[in-house]
Amino acid sequence: MNCKTRVEELAILCGHPAFSKPLHVGCPNIGNQAALLGRINDLLDRKWLTNNGPFVQEFEQRIADFLGVKHCIAMCNATLALEVASRAMALHGEVIVPSFTFIATAHSLQWQEITPVFCDVDAATHNLDPMKVEAMITPRTTGIIGVHVWGRPCAIESLTEIAQCHKLRLMFDAAHAFGCSYEGQMIGNFGEAEIFSFHATKFFNTFEGGAVTTNNDDLAAKIRLMKNFGFAGHDNVIYIGTNGKMSEISAAMGLTGLESLDEFIAINRSNYAAYLAGLQDMPGIQLIAYDEVERCNYQYIVVEVDEVTAGISRDELVHILQAEKVLARRYFYPGCHMMEPYRSLFPHAGLLLPETERLTRRVMSLPTGTAVGQEEIAAVCAIIRLAITNSRELRPRLAVLMT
Ligand SMILES: Cc1ncc(COP(=O)(O)O)c(C=O)c1O
Repeated sequence: MNCKTRVEELAILCGHPAFSKPLHVGCPNIGNQAALLGRINDLLDRKWLTNNGPFVQEFEQRIADFLGVKHCIAMCNATLALEVASRAMALHGEVIVPSFTFIATAHSLQWQEITPVFCDVDAATHNLDPMKVEAMITPRTTGIIGVHVWGRPCAIESLTEIAQCHKLRLMFDAAHAFGCSYEGQMIGNFGEAEIFSFHATKFFNTFEGGAVTTNNDDLAAKIRLMKNFGFAGHDNVIYIGTNGKMSEISAAMGLTGLESLDEFIAINRSNYAAYLAGLQDMPGIQLIAYDEVERCNYQYIVVEVDEVTAGISRDELVHILQAEKVLARRYFYPGCHMMEPYRSLFPHAGLLLPETERLTRRVMSLPTGTAVGQEEIAAVCAIIRLAITNSRELRPRLAVLMT
């Protein structure tokens, strides 16, 4: 790694990249490898690889205890968990969702021929704006899916009130929010159900994986059946179901990761503090804030770039960083409403999504996690500072390179 101080040293201008190996946004956290291998040996010896094995059962219990929620149903990923939960809740017609989310939130609905209705977000929180949600309700609306973007909780109370008032079902896509709390209570307890992702890029992972959590006994029972083809017992299928089961090897990874959860969060937190220190006073660069009173996983280092003040755009910064092997991502870009099939189905959706469109032009995510240390963060911040300080000189040269 080399720390850059002169603009000619930038890799985009033919200098050597700052890093010899790429720095990823979501490099997996592994936990104790020996403990994981021990568990893998156990499951191989048992020859119980899937179908609600002992590791999955233990994993579900541990997650439910950690979140203080009645039911945790482990699943093979969050996308399928969203599909199964929305089917179990009988969502149909239209469901209000943000466009500023990962495409899976929308696809899980469209896959079932439920129309995702894209609602704008709040500029400060990046989450659904409740006032705008209310304005999107029509006679066809059956539910709302809030997304706790970056692990920062939605306006849960307002959304709950709106859902109750309009007799809509409410669930949360909590893919980013494992280990986070809202007013002292762990995310996982709100709405009728919450959905977590334990994908390899999440700070806590089960290779691939996800879970539905709920305090509703009937809903939990239904989701449990539906994720196993609808089997209520041998030879007795009582619903349309699918195969959403988590495997034993994924649960083994999850149990191992849970033992290092505090360490993962502590590293994310100190990385966040290092970025905060490194980026402070940089014109036009703002790192999103996390509420220190709540529990938080600090999983995302999200920066908003104000092109006018910084003198350089988000896209230009991403190009500069990627040339240095800092694989910054334009996460979420360009917004679900700009991707197919939604772009063709709702070509004018953007007219009602000004904050979403503004954010998708401004945000970028920077690398963090156990693979990233304080020195690397200092070097990343130095590159950003160098680019901003020399933006006048850099921009015309970048314009040539980026066309
Ligand atoms: C907000 C959101 N929802 C859903 C998902 C889908 O999760 P999975 O990859 O576990 O299906 C993701 C994945 O990144 C996500 O960020």
